[in-house]
Amino acid sequence: MSEHEIEAVVVCKNVDCVVRGSNETTQYLKDKLAELGINIPVGRYDCFSLCDFGPNVLVYPEGTMYCLEQPEKTTTPAIEKLDAVVNHVRGGEKAEELTKKAKPFQAAVDLVIELIDSGLGSSEGIPPRKK
Ligand code: FES
Repeated sequence: MSEHEIEAVVVCKNVDCVVRGSNETTQYLKDKLAELGINIPVGRYDCFSLCDFGPNVLVYPEGTMYCLEQPEKTTTPAIEKLDAVVNHVRGGEKAEELTKKAKPFQAAVDLVIELIDSGLGSSEGIPPRKK
């Protein structure tokens, strides 16, 4: 898969990520991508099984998983981290530091991508993959 094969950004919508700001993260990413004129949808998925490291954001189907690591009850978006994700989505460098927690779980991330592709799992706002 090419580095910039990106069709959606997917934010976890399960409770552990919600209490760490995933709803606010989703809104920020939607607003920022729209502001920049980047036509990439921001969808939701329940959940990536990286619950202690959220809010978690998947770059789909390219496969980078960003763990934004906010404390519980901290729902204010981490703007610097989110802007690093946006930079990657718009063709810049991957924010490697924010991917370290997920790296040991890449097989699970790849499985989530397969589940989204197959229409299984609880996803919303993710368009059918272009093949
Ligand atoms: S609650 Fe977000 S990864 Fe599980």
